Amino acid sequence: MRAIQIVNEDGPDSALALVELPEPEPSHMLTPGSGVLVEVHVAGVSFPELLQTRGMYQMKPPLPYVPGSEVGGVVISAPPEASVKPGDRVAAFCALGGWAETTVAPEYFTFALPDELDFAQGAALVLNYHTAYFCLKIRGRLAAGETVLVHGAAGGVGTASLQVARGLGAKTIATVSTEEKRKIAEEAGADHVVMIAEGWKDEVLQLSGGGVDMVLDPVGGDRFLDSLRSLAEDGRLVVVGFTGGAIPEVKVNRLLLKNTEVIGAGWGAYVMGKPELNRQIGAAIAEMMGAGIVRPLIGQRFALEDAAQALHTLDERRAVGKVVLDVRGS
Ligand SMILES: NC(=O)c1ccc[n+]([C@@H]2O[C@H](COP(=O)([O-])OP(=O)(O)OC[C@H]3O[C@@H](n4cnc5c(N)ncnc54)[C@H](OP(=O)(O)O)[C@@H]3O)[C@@H](O)[C@H]2O)c1
Repeated sequence: MRAIQIVNEDGPDSALALVELPEPEPSHMLTPGSGVLVEVHVAGVSFPELLQTRGMYQMKPPLPYVPGSEVGGVVISAPPEASVKPGDRVAAFCALGGWAETTVAPEYFTFALPDELDFAQGAALVLNYHTAYFCLKIRGRLAAGETVLVHGAAGGVGTASLQVARGLGAKTIATVSTEEKRKIAEEAGADHVVMIAEGWKDEVLQLSGGGVDMVLDPVGGDRFLDSLRSLAEDGRLVVVGFTGGAIPEVKVNRLLLKNTEVIGAGWGAYVMGKPELNRQIGAAIAEMMGAGIVRPLIGQRFALEDAAQALHTLDERRAVGKVVLDVRGS
């Protein structure tokens, strides 16, 4: 099969190689001896892969290895306990190995893909939407009627969070940095969109009538302090990532004075060993797909061999919606 390997850690331009490899066995590192074998049609591209090409991601498999954490495709074989069977269209989270014509995923990370969603949308479903649900609902306790401010709202996690928040009955305020990204956030269903520029906090305070109940922050950096200032009493700021580069620090007296919380949310580490939790999150997302609320927005598409270009769109802040690789041609 054709696959992309990471062969060194010198960055996207030299770390990736297109190779021929044998098909994997139906055994996944999280479920040794068992796994769903998937014919990959489209693979997702995410920030971890960019970091992996630089050796900067927490998970460091020995070189060379096939990256790619999630795919949309068709089941080739599945263990008897799986909820999917050969021939089913699926969205699967494989953690590694997705940038290949065939991959393997744990049965509890493999979800039926409804006819309304194409393979690219399948490749955009697990990492971002499960993260969004985990951050908003499980860690952040978002309730119907609350208002959530979503940073990086035109990105993968951002667009997913706008839709999942709506599915949970919340109102959303999105922040974005360009007019093109404003359109994406609107398409993802944001109730309000604010440009990330001087004065954004005041606009958020005015739109929310004095403060939001939650900030979902995949960006970090220097907007963190104003994010805290945007919270209403009992507000929660959920820390999701640091695409802005800098890891912010917080003076905890601010939390005391306004009765607010900062909550860490790391989806992967939390859900890896919890099959039942993944099924529950999958069921909640399936319900939102059925209601027509969850519809991943696909951004730039690339051929498998152009994976480096795909990583550059993330690196250069040009991603609008989910970036994907058409593994078997478009
Ligand atoms: N905690 C978890 O469980 C979890 C799970 C999945 C992903 N993540 C993390 O969440 C973050 C977002 O992932 P994603 O897939 O949504 O990424 P993405 O699609 O590239 O979107 C990230 C957004 O960050 C904003 N941004 C601000 N400064 C940036 C900069 N200097 N470079 C690039 N982007 C910048 C951009 O929005 P504007 O230009 O509009 O500001 C961009 O749209 C990543 O750090 C990822 O590792 C965490």
